[in-house]
Amino acid sequence: MAFVGRAARQPRGQARAVAGTAAPAAERAVSAQGVEVSPTSAPSLRPMREGDLDAVMAIEQRAYPFPWTRGIFRDCLKSGYPSWVMTEHGLVIGYGLLSIAADEAHVLNICVAPERQGRGLGRHLLRALVKIARDQRSQRVFLEVRPSNPGAIALYHSEGFNEIGRRPRYYPARDGREDALVMAIELVADDITTMPSL
Ligand SMILES: CC(C)(COP(=O)(O)OP(=O)(O)OC[C@H]1O[C@@H](n2cnc3c(N)ncnc32)[C@H](O)[C@@H]1OP(=O)(O)O)[C@@H](O)C(=O)NCCC(=O)NCCS
Repeated sequence: MAFVGRAARQPRGQARAVAGTAAPAAERAVSAQGVEVSPTSAPSLRPMREGDLDAVMAIEQRAYPFPWTRGIFRDCLKSGYPSWVMTEHGLVIGYGLLSIAADEAHVLNICVAPERQGRGLGRHLLRALVKIARDQRSQRVFLEVRPSNPGAIALYHSEGFNEIGRRPRYYPARDGREDALVMAIELVADDITTMPSL
């Protein structure tokens, strides 16, 4: 998660629909009568809107010891940063935000509601964000993560992100400040088959 001040960075384009963003069937939803609910109620992604911010803040405050403020989310929306919510049965259960400038993208926040973590949803969100970056012609994606967040680090490594540096004392922490690990992934062009033969 990026430590973002109130002044959001330069905007670049509104969020666009992501192809193939149906989330994994992380679990089968079963009604009180024991009937499986329709597959259409499986988690899906859609652009975040201002009206989502109560639900987003409720997750943010439970998921992070040092949560973003509502103002930071609002600034991201106003700036047109690609901002997505994952919903299930109409309820927000996670979200992810990116900034994209020139040919670089930055994962600003990725979060799954604590009670829904560990079921593949974070991986799905991360892949969707990387796809958005790729679709907007980004060549690499960066993110920051606390060294004290091994679950997130394992997710990023397993999706091909590598540690490229550290930002000393980047995050607030209970006993002062905590460094950020900076991780990045290079996005290889999909259209390699269109290259001229040698
Ligand atoms: C980080 C986060 C987004 C991951 O989402 P998630 O839905 O819990 O993760 P997934 O179920 O998709 O797991 C994907 C991989 O992440 C890793 N992982 C996730 N939670 C882990 C944990 N508690 N311990 C170790 N590895 C973990 C594993 O490699 C896992 O792959 P596996 O299931 O094949 O072993 C989620 O835990 C979260 O929202 N945390 C709070 C907010 C946060 O820290 N965001 C990241 C800021 S940089």
